[in-house]
Amino acid sequence: KDIPSLHGLYGGQFSIGTAIEAFQTEGAYGELVQKHFNSVVAGNAMKPISLQPSEGQFHWEEADQIVQFARQHGLEIRFHTLVWHNQTGDWMFKDKNGQPMTPTAENKKLLLDRLETHIRAVAARYKNVITDWDVVNEVIDPDQPDGMRRSKWYQITGTDYIEKAFRVTREAAGPNARLFINDYNTHEPKKRDFLYNLVRDLLAKGVPIDGVGHQSHIRLEFPAISEIEQSIEKFASLGLDNQITELDMGLYSNDTDRYETIPESMLIRQAHRYRALFDMFSRQQNHISNVTIWGTDDGNTWLSTFPIARLDKPLLFDERLKAKYAYWALADSSKVP
Ligand code: G3I
Repeated sequence: KDIPSLHGLYGGQFSIGTAIEAFQTEGAYGELVQKHFNSVVAGNAMKPISLQPSEGQFHWEEADQIVQFARQHGLEIRFHTLVWHNQTGDWMFKDKNGQPMTPTAENKKLLLDRLETHIRAVAARYKNVITDWDVVNEVIDPDQPDGMRRSKWYQITGTDYIEKAFRVTREAAGPNARLFINDYNTHEPKKRDFLYNLVRDLLAKGVPIDGVGHQSHIRLEFPAISEIEQSIEKFASLGLDNQITELDMGLYSNDTDRYETIPESMLIRQAHRYRALFDMFSRQQNHISNVTIWGTDDGNTWLSTFPIARLDKPLLFDERLKAKYAYWALADSSKVP
């Protein structure tokens, strides 16, 4: 309706995006998305298991629908994600006899070949249309001595899959593609430093990485905004771009509480924190090219099922698609108590 658009307010500083499913390109959803955002990402439709559920069988319908919608309305598209340990078909990690892969030279070659095939197929379809790519997602595990997640990818290839994924994407997606390494809790000093060292070493080897994606699934009470800012500055010091790729703000401080209704006072605190966060993004606008919110309305958020089924309201619009205090804090903070 007649409320200011978020991309009108922030578009001069960074692109502003939202995560959607294919059905959210239609009706009232589609209108809300195209009004407020100038960038979209698929919440699930471009993950490995969605695009290639079994070997050589590509399913493009939902991804194409999102791409069509974005092109029709002039929205940028972030690709999420070429490589991940989750939401990847089991077939990817089976050997030539259909058994779970063990770490042999033969399996390593097979897996890296499959990775290349997947990336080349996706890039052939969307190069030049999609410019920002999450090449690898969540490869860091700060509880490992070397900081590397012990995924199937890692067990079979070591860290070679990361290097290969970036090199193949650069070749296949074209020189204008901007390639990201994406992760969560990038503000935590230990995790941040493992990620920093990995990226620094890969850059030194000539691996084409353009930026770091900070998922930013944060809570009302933590982390401190200054910690997020320090992380952005740290990666910027490597000459890298930063994107805030999956922002939402859960209201709970632990994994077990459950509210029947959410007190209004919490939504007001949430609004002020969203504003403080965006003020930081504005300060760092030279180092941040995109801020994407992981969902559009509180009726469609992964936090209603994770870590337990419970009511949460982490986004800018409510379940009836009405602007919340959190939106108003960004658009006109005089409207927030
Ligand atoms: O597709 C099936 C559908 O066929 C079935 O009927 C339905 C029943 O539960 O499940 C559907 O799959 C669900 C899928 O979302 C699509 O809706 C999965 O169960 C569910 O686990 C999956 O959750 C997604 C989650 O990633 C999986 O890890 C969330 O929607 C998605 O928001 C979330 O996104 C991740 C990012 O990719 C990476 N960073 C963290 C972020 C939040 O977890």
